[in-house]
Amino acid sequence: AIERTFSILKPDATQRNLTGGINALIEAAGLKIVAQKRIQMSLAEARRFYAVHKERPFFGELVEFMVSAPVVVQVLEGENAIAKYREVMGATNPAQAAEGTIRKQFALSVGENSVHGSDSADNAKLEIAQFFSENEIISG
Ligand code: CMP
Repeated sequence: AIERTFSILKPDATQRNLTGGINALIEAAGLKIVAQKRIQMSLAEARRFYAVHKERPFFGELVEFMVSAPVVVQVLEGENAIAKYREVMGATNPAQAAEGTIRKQFALSVGENSVHGSDSADNAKLEIAQFFSENEIISG
């Protein structure tokens, strides 16, 4: 089915001018960027976005990193978009990421791993709604 997923190009990516390089891999995989904006996340937004990880030892580091520089938030659309984008991103830890994936090509570490993508349809919906109103998403 045609799905939507939520993507973030993280601070390590925006600070190395990798927006275009990452978008090229997204588009080459057949995913359409149907909404995109560059934002400076606030601490409150980052804490809310990663609330599921709030008990993890790396939560503070993760939130600090996400507000350390601008990010690009996106909505991607396509056949099986949620699983497909996770495949295109590669493993969370770039040392384990497969050849040809975004994280293999660009990520620096498990924290500075260049991209985020939703892990389920429910989370995709919630994550998209945190950053985009429906009228900012232009399919077609
Ligand atoms: P993401 O898909 O954005 O969702 C949670 C993030 O936590 C994950 O990507 C990683 O970037 C980050 N993360 C996971 N494990 C660690 C860790 N050990 N140290 C720092 N960040 C981590």
